[in-house]
Amino acid sequence: MLRVGMLTSGGDCQSLNAAMRGVAKSLYGSVKDVKIYGFLEGYKGLIYNNYKEMNPGDFSGILTEGGTILGSSRQPFKLMTVPDENGLDKVKAMKETYAKLKLDCLVILGGNGTQKTANLLSREGLNIVSLPKTIDNDLWGTDITFGFQSAVDIATNAIDCIHTTASSHGRVFIVEVMGHKVGWITLHAGIAAGADVILIPEIPYDIKKVIKTLNERTKKGKNFSILAVAEGAISKEDAALSKKELKKKLAESPYPSVSYKLGEEITKATGQEVRITVPGHMQRGGSPCPYDRVISTMFGAQAARLIMDKKFGYMVAMVNNEITEVPLKDIAGKLKTVDPDCTTIRDAKLLGIGFGD
Ligand code: F6P
Repeated sequence: MLRVGMLTSGGDCQSLNAAMRGVAKSLYGSVKDVKIYGFLEGYKGLIYNNYKEMNPGDFSGILTEGGTILGSSRQPFKLMTVPDENGLDKVKAMKETYAKLKLDCLVILGGNGTQKTANLLSREGLNIVSLPKTIDNDLWGTDITFGFQSAVDIATNAIDCIHTTASSHGRVFIVEVMGHKVGWITLHAGIAAGADVILIPEIPYDIKKVIKTLNERTKKGKNFSILAVAEGAISKEDAALSKKELKKKLAESPYPSVSYKLGEEITKATGQEVRITVPGHMQRGGSPCPYDRVISTMFGAQAARLIMDKKFGYMVAMVNNEITEVPLKDIAGKLKTVDPDCTTIRDAKLLGIGFGD
């Protein structure tokens, strides 16, 4: 009998269910006797022994369903080695649950923090296979994560909708896109929806340059402009502050987010009316786009292959358009940011899109 544990951890995204279905259907179809245990609410389920025995029917009809049938929760990596409020050693507890259920392996679906804990469990001797999930697309070692393309679709649609009303009213619109540390969604949705300015955390902006781009559009007779701004976009002056200084400045800021500060600065400098739209968690919700359904299904099938081959300590990945796997120890804790000199940005600049630099 093959005994497999499964959990989804961290912020959810589209296609988590499709990926789990990919693993389960591949295993049920190829191994004679399989038992899958689903841990509820991420690592919490593994720590506190909260799981359910799954059957093939649980993985049926979920290909197109958003969210996760197992639930998820954020369990910060740095707190994993800190006892809980009752003094429970979380790592020891996870190992005990794994041993109690006599698991042959654990399949972990998650983003950056989740992969760090997956690597920790692998180093502790558990058989781990992980899958790259996050709308942010910021996992090192894989060209793409599932969830990203669906989020790009939603953010693009939001900017498309804004485009028509911005043009009717001759206003400047800022659409704030998810991504605190990286600007992948903003960059792709911004280009896809024809934004005039794209601001991402990897390229600290100079407000004067942003204003210049907007004024040039006005000079050309354009009566509106669209800015796609990542929630983690940062000005050059803020980027020069220490982590501590920046934290203090943000805590004391009267603005709910960077977009509101930008909006005020733009109105002051150009006299133009500015409106702000924040699609927020919509970007993580709903049914996965077809591309995500395909790659998460293939990622799931690859995870099943690794389990059948007893190849553990790996994250399934897409490298140069091929589905493969990368050692967890090589990727855990590394962030894949947008390279400011990449061809996507160079081409966007050639088209006249401003990046505020
Ligand atoms: O990691 C995915 C993500 O949606 C980020 O883009 C965003 O900054 C963050 O999660 C929001 O976190 P929460 O759902 O905890 O508010």
